[in-house]
Amino acid sequence: MSDKNILKGFSKLSKEEKLSVIASRFTVPEEAVSLLRSFWHRDADMQKMFDEFSENTLTNYYFPFGIAPNVMINGRIYMVPMVIEESSVIAAAANSAKFWSGLGGFKSEIISTIKNGQVHFIWNGNYAKLQAAFPVLREQLLRRTASITANMERRGGGVTGMELVDMTSSLDGYYQLSVKFDTRDSMGANFINSCLEEYAAGLRQFVNESDEFGGEPLQIIMAILSNFTPECVVRTWVECDVKDFAGIDEMLSAEEFAWKFEKAVQIASADVYRAATHNKGIFNGVDAVALSTGNDFRAIEACGHAWAARDGKYRSLTEVSIQNGRFHYSLTLPIAIGTVGGLTSLHPMARFSLELLGNPGAPELMQIASSIGLANNFGAVKSLTTKGIQVGHMKMHLLNILNMLMADEQEKLRAVEYFKHHKVSHNAVAAFLASIRNGVSPYN
Ligand code: MEV
Repeated sequence: MSDKNILKGFSKLSKEEKLSVIASRFTVPEEAVSLLRSFWHRDADMQKMFDEFSENTLTNYYFPFGIAPNVMINGRIYMVPMVIEESSVIAAAANSAKFWSGLGGFKSEIISTIKNGQVHFIWNGNYAKLQAAFPVLREQLLRRTASITANMERRGGGVTGMELVDMTSSLDGYYQLSVKFDTRDSMGANFINSCLEEYAAGLRQFVNESDEFGGEPLQIIMAILSNFTPECVVRTWVECDVKDFAGIDEMLSAEEFAWKFEKAVQIASADVYRAATHNKGIFNGVDAVALSTGNDFRAIEACGHAWAARDGKYRSLTEVSIQNGRFHYSLTLPIAIGTVGGLTSLHPMARFSLELLGNPGAPELMQIASSIGLANNFGAVKSLTTKGIQVGHMKMHLLNILNMLMADEQEKLRAVEYFKHHKVSHNAVAAFLASIRNGVSPYN
């Protein structure tokens, strides 16, 4: 079957050709081309590097790069770079960080930094025999990757464990070669996958070229790192006396606030609908740091959500306890993040972010990202349990609405002043603009 709308060979076209093919789908193609070009970097070499990060690149897509200032983590103050398009997220992180810096800041400890990957295979041979031969197999496999692991070993990392896992209770004939890695300051995806592909080839050869194990040939299904890294975990927390919450809200006493906050977190553990949103608020912060430092936020999120469901029920990633008048709030999260390799050293803004953070190693960046995740979550739950999020959110969103309605700078200034004391909504802003544009006082 051929569909005349299917465009063949797009990837083979030059960038200019791709641009005009895509622009031809717009009513005014020249305008489309000029919009795309307007987002090119002025330095052609830099633009070429961006083009080469991925494929079929036409232009760049801007996201705001902002700072959560004065974030105290383990007694040290960081200016934390955040890349995020959603209004209020940076403000919430900054406000929480300010609140907690007066109470000792965030405390954070690394629990472990081990990553893992698997060779998944299907086989119906004699597993007991394979297990018995495993010490020999393991030596052979490790030898196969000696040239790949040498560098990592020099940095103190490498392969830290390897075992066979019988998965036949979940799927007929399914086994794994499960491998653990220490990838030091790199996220390590390429390193892990290169090792695993070698192990897959070695395993297939070891079994299929011997008559010892019986059965049909072992079939490698795939070899790939796991984005679930339950042994690459950071724990971050804040604590204070409940009475320190005095004044946090006009309507609630310190005790009432702590009680409501505790209930909100318990609800996020009891109900999956709330849990997903609660955890999304954590990833607002974690992802924004991951993006600003050139890290793979999809991997980090996938891991976080799998971890949130690790006991079979998807729950809140944060935990609260109130004992003897002391409030303790913590986030325990696996975060496989890197500070060397990949985009971290290529993307100039990722390099900038890392330098701004004092060129941390991966463990320190885990602590920073999780602190911002906890800061965002605290800010969200605090707003939700007090005045609601819309007041603050719409205030932050006001400029977006004004831009949508083509407000000029004078109109924006007047609107910002007016909406300090009025509720923001799209309709209210439109009405405000209409009234000042018609020369009518909005105050009537
Ligand atoms: C919005 O991006 C995030 C929140 O919905 C998180 C939450 O509800 O906890 C405010």
